[in-house]
Amino acid sequence: MATLFTGIAELTTNADAAAPTATIEDAALLIDAGRVAWVGAAADAETAAAARDSGLSSTSRASAAVSRSEVEVVDLGGRAVIPGFVDSHTHLVFAGDRADEFEARMTGVPYAAGGIRRTVAATRAATDDELRARLAALVAELHAQGTTTFEVKTGYDLTTPGEERLARLAAEVTDEVTYLGAHVVPEGTDRASYVDLVCDRMLDAVRPHVRWVDVFCERGAFTEAESERILRAGAEAGLGVRVHGNQLGEGPGVQLAVRMGAASVDHCTHLTDADIAALAASDTVATLLPGVEFSTRQPYPDARRLIDAGVTVALASDCNPGSSFTSSMPLMIALAVREMGMTVGEAVWAATAGGARALSRDDVGHLGPGARADLVVLDAPSRRHLPYRPGVPLVHRVYRGGEVLSPR
Ligand code: NIG
Ligand code: FE
Repeated sequence: MATLFTGIAELTTNADAAAPTATIEDAALLIDAGRVAWVGAAADAETAAAARDSGLSSTSRASAAVSRSEVEVVDLGGRAVIPGFVDSHTHLVFAGDRADEFEARMTGVPYAAGGIRRTVAATRAATDDELRARLAALVAELHAQGTTTFEVKTGYDLTTPGEERLARLAAEVTDEVTYLGAHVVPEGTDRASYVDLVCDRMLDAVRPHVRWVDVFCERGAFTEAESERILRAGAEAGLGVRVHGNQLGEGPGVQLAVRMGAASVDHCTHLTDADIAALAASDTVATLLPGVEFSTRQPYPDARRLIDAGVTVALASDCNPGSSFTSSMPLMIALAVREMGMTVGEAVWAATAGGARALSRDDVGHLGPGARADLVVLDAPSRRHLPYRPGVPLVHRVYRGGEVLSPR
């Protein structure tokens, strides 16, 4: 059965190539078989329906779809609708937390990559069911906040059977699983032999469950040469490439990502002019993770500089227990607008269409005809309320593939 949504005060579709951040006021949206069939002004939807009732022919897709099947009308009562959020960077499979590190950072202790090893110890000690239960709770948290597509990385075990386990559990909740065996060199392990393992046996073990390979190319984690070797091994095994780069300081991550044709390079907090020029001349998305700067008291990435240079920017949560333990895409939008120089339209685009680009997906992140019907209905008349009312739960209802995902 088709559903016609009416009473949409403001609709964001990301589907107008000439005006990517534009909205439609007083809009309607028709979905059929889990996909968007038609979007436009509410007045046009009525005309289309009337044409059908009076037997007049119409070329409108709305009337075509409406006349094909029974239509349920859902009046959204003057609320705003945006595409479901696409969170292209999370680390959701882990045990324990590191709230003590967060508290220490707030009094001046700097963030260091080494904290990852504490989560590794807790994760190795957890049973499958414990990890599954934690993961399910986090996924419910994402859904309730409007996220309808999300990526999950491995990287909190760092042994071959353990990374295979994390990849397998992640694949139970998403198709977008990333192999991050190269998160940090585990304690008591020789660097060179660990890099060999990541490129070889560990890669073979996770391969059936994953779509992407990633590496933490940073001081305290992996060097440029190590990162390149790992990414090449993943690419040769058929995986798409993504990189954690330029989080803690300027470094080789961005240039490496561009050189490797990565779908995305994530963090991009410390960039040189040459990094920005390289990104602008590439198809690599710069994924900004402002939850990290919030939670580690670092300066925010300069989104304005990137966008003005012509770089495609995405926003993601980086939900993880060390550097950003939040799953809230509305918070990312608020930080992007308040702290990073993005307009509201740019921030909403980056959290939806930008995330889809970062995952090389064209079926999500927008509400043009043919898109998967992933919708967030806001308890607000405009998307402006996302940054304007920070911390307020504004998500009224979430649909994925035309079905209600939240509240259950
Ligand atoms: O994206 N940068 C590497 N990984 C995470 C942090 C993981 C952790 O501290 O546990 C990140 O910030
Ligand atoms: Fe991360």
